[in-house]
Amino acid sequence: MEVILTGARPTGQLHIGNFLGAINPIIQLSQRYSDVRLFTATLHSFTDQNPRTTIEFVSGLVKDYIAAGVDPRKVIIFDQMSIAREIALATLYLSKLVTVNKLTKIPTLKDKLKSDAEAGSANGLLLYYPLMMGADILLQKTTLVPVGIDQRSHIEFSRDLVARFNSEYGTDGVFVMPESLIQSELNIMALNGEGKMSKTKPARAIFLGDDDATIAKKVQGAKTGLAGEITEAFKSLYHIGQLLANDAQKVELEKLYIKHSQGQAAMGDFKMILIEILTNFISTFRHKRKSISDYEVEQILKEGAEKARFSANQTLSAMEVAMTGMSFSNHLLSPL
Ligand code: TRP
Repeated sequence: MEVILTGARPTGQLHIGNFLGAINPIIQLSQRYSDVRLFTATLHSFTDQNPRTTIEFVSGLVKDYIAAGVDPRKVIIFDQMSIAREIALATLYLSKLVTVNKLTKIPTLKDKLKSDAEAGSANGLLLYYPLMMGADILLQKTTLVPVGIDQRSHIEFSRDLVARFNSEYGTDGVFVMPESLIQSELNIMALNGEGKMSKTKPARAIFLGDDDATIAKKVQGAKTGLAGEITEAFKSLYHIGQLLANDAQKVELEKLYIKHSQGQAAMGDFKMILIEILTNFISTFRHKRKSISDYEVEQILKEGAEKARFSANQTLSAMEVAMTGMSFSNHLLSPL
């Protein structure tokens, strides 16, 4: 049976690129698969954010998930902190299987550091980033991990950990070999057409928390292309529109795409309809989000924690038995 798992770092506001790249695939997958797990990667945020502000974002991220259409009856939603002890232990056990040299060469580490910083100047937790991700994935017995292309090397790393664990301890029954499900067809760009849409450049991103006037202003100012020119920036906006539009709006968008590609002026109308699509989607999101209470979030996370902890403890015990012949953690940790 497939177990689908993905996580997102609680870093404040989500933008439309996060929604289309990470949340929407989960919604689609939860209609096909019965075991889909989505968690807030709180410890991963600790690597470069203030822990106190990070944990304040957790409940908001859960509200975002649900308001954006994740059904908590179909998807197990949990906070990584509710299994932090299991993650920490598994991370330590796994860390024995890799050299420090290897950890400093993971490509994403370089991206996270200032452009010219030495890999060795990373804080220790950042060095553990891929190991903690391995723990997330392996403890839940994940078979499929939907992620963006930028996370591919991390999934490869997790697969490598499984192979190393198996050869080191002469077992192959502890972990399931995870596969990545790369969401590569999506390239949601910053509104000026330069690079990915990102929270760090808020003027060039559309946030799920933006009001109608802000959305209109941002779309009006977005880069498209001269008539007849199919730029990456235009394609990205077109893509956003197509993914969020209703049937009538889709037809309209297609007409304008053709008009534009034939060299006729269509960008004014295109932006009008894109604004309509985005404001509709975001106002529905906004209303739904307001109706979700903190109590509801607490209950969802509590239920999710129990399920996640159950799987995590099972795997952790199996790891310990494979490594030492004994299980240590199960009776030390609080029972379910
Ligand atoms: N590193 C991921 C990101 O930044 C978040 C993440 C943490 C994750 N643990 C995970 C994703 C496990 C998938 C599976 O997007």
